[in-house]
Amino acid sequence: MLLIGSENALEALPPAMQILKQGGSALDAVEAAIRLVESNLEDHSVGVGGWPNLLGEVELDASLMDGRNRSSGAVGALRGYPHPISVARRVMDSLPHVFLTGQGAADFAAEMGFERAETLTDIAAQEWIARVQANVPPAKMAALFQRREMTAWVALTRDPQRIAGTVDVIAIDGQGNIASGVSTSGWAWKYPGRLGDSPIIGAGNYCDNRHGAAACTGYGELAIRGSTAHTVVLLMQMGLSLVEACQQALRDLPPAPPGWEDNMMNIVAVDRDGNHCGATNIKQWDEYAYMRDDMAKAEIAKRIYVPTT
Ligand code: GLY
Repeated sequence: MLLIGSENALEALPPAMQILKQGGSALDAVEAAIRLVESNLEDHSVGVGGWPNLLGEVELDASLMDGRNRSSGAVGALRGYPHPISVARRVMDSLPHVFLTGQGAADFAAEMGFERAETLTDIAAQEWIARVQANVPPAKMAALFQRREMTAWVALTRDPQRIAGTVDVIAIDGQGNIASGVSTSGWAWKYPGRLGDSPIIGAGNYCDNRHGAAACTGYGELAIRGSTAHTVVLLMQMGLSLVEACQQALRDLPPAPPGWEDNMMNIVAVDRDGNHCGATNIKQWDEYAYMRDDMAKAEIAKRIYVPTT
């Protein structure tokens, strides 16, 4: 049995390993681990405490995938519910759909009995005031809050990866089944309704028992354009090794848009034999977390560095 995740999942892996040891499924372990990170108020890129959008609203994205049959569930721009990963799982388990967004996702969460809660913390609100309110002239505030003039202020956005990070978790359970999941609050001060890669199957995560699984953190727009998580798994299907597949998926990233200083992308991945790998095109993002069932605690491993710019 194996768990891997982005480095901010380190503390969440041992409780998730307990679930696997007690016979729980890979999906159960992925959901449980991600819920713990979603509850961490100090992680400002995931769940409660995440940085809000331009209007000061926290919009959460998450998805997960079952490698047995590629069943998937996803929610995007979900407001008012602290555990988007669990709502995503319920989409997968209860609906003939894969992906709900915005009001529809919130209506579904309410219908399924998920508890509403405040997801904007004082620290995140203060940071939003310092960053957005302080930069928008008072005369422009009304147009911003009436949603008439928001584009002008998107330049204020910044990638939360610089501060903390989206969370990825991949699990292999005692049956050899693989599951993957991702959760994020997305870019700080993003245009309302913006979705990154995290809720998009094939971009933020992808999982197939026959080949392996991959999940991404970084600039979501690039993983969407590059179908990065699916690319890793497809390359393994085509015969590349786990490490080669991660390297090639990073090399295959689209270029960053003009004005962006880099095309930051990080991958965690496993193959069907239980080997694991982390890869990054940013030298400083060189860690990921892993735990095998024979380990007393989760540990940090080094990502391979693949320069792409
Ligand atoms: N990678 C998370 C996002 O871009 O929203």
